[in-house]
Amino acid sequence: MNIEWTDDLIIGVDIIDSQHKEFFRRTNVLFQSIETNDLKEIAKTFLFVKEYVDTHFQTEEDFIKNNINYEYGITNYTEHKNEHDAFIRDFSEFERIRIGDKNEMFTIAKEFQPWMQNWWFQHINVIDRKMAIIYKKSMKKK
Ligand SMILES: [Fe+2]
Repeated sequence: MNIEWTDDLIIGVDIIDSQHKEFFRRTNVLFQSIETNDLKEIAKTFLFVKEYVDTHFQTEEDFIKNNINYEYGITNYTEHKNEHDAFIRDFSEFERIRIGDKNEMFTIAKEFQPWMQNWWFQHINVIDRKMAIIYKKSMKKK
């Protein structure tokens, strides 16, 4: 099972859309490595996710701060930051267990997959999309 990118996930902010696309492309490697039981790849992709989300979340949070007027952007910023922080917290739980034994690692990787997929679909379609709408509205008011 893959985490499929489809164009209905486009929110209309280029830099963010292209990061999302790249993220989906790379995390598919993880899901393939779970199927082929490739522990080395699983470990590598966990590391990738950890690093990439830091950059990506920062990009989005800076985007809101730099491009959306405070009064329009503040609610989304707060909601956004909460969800991002929650992802990092929950992800680090998976990371922590990952260090355990081999069998445990496969079990975790399998649980990780649907959790990741749901989180990204839900987050992009609700919070990121809201951000893009607010951004476009606030552009018109300038
Ligand atoms: Fe986001």
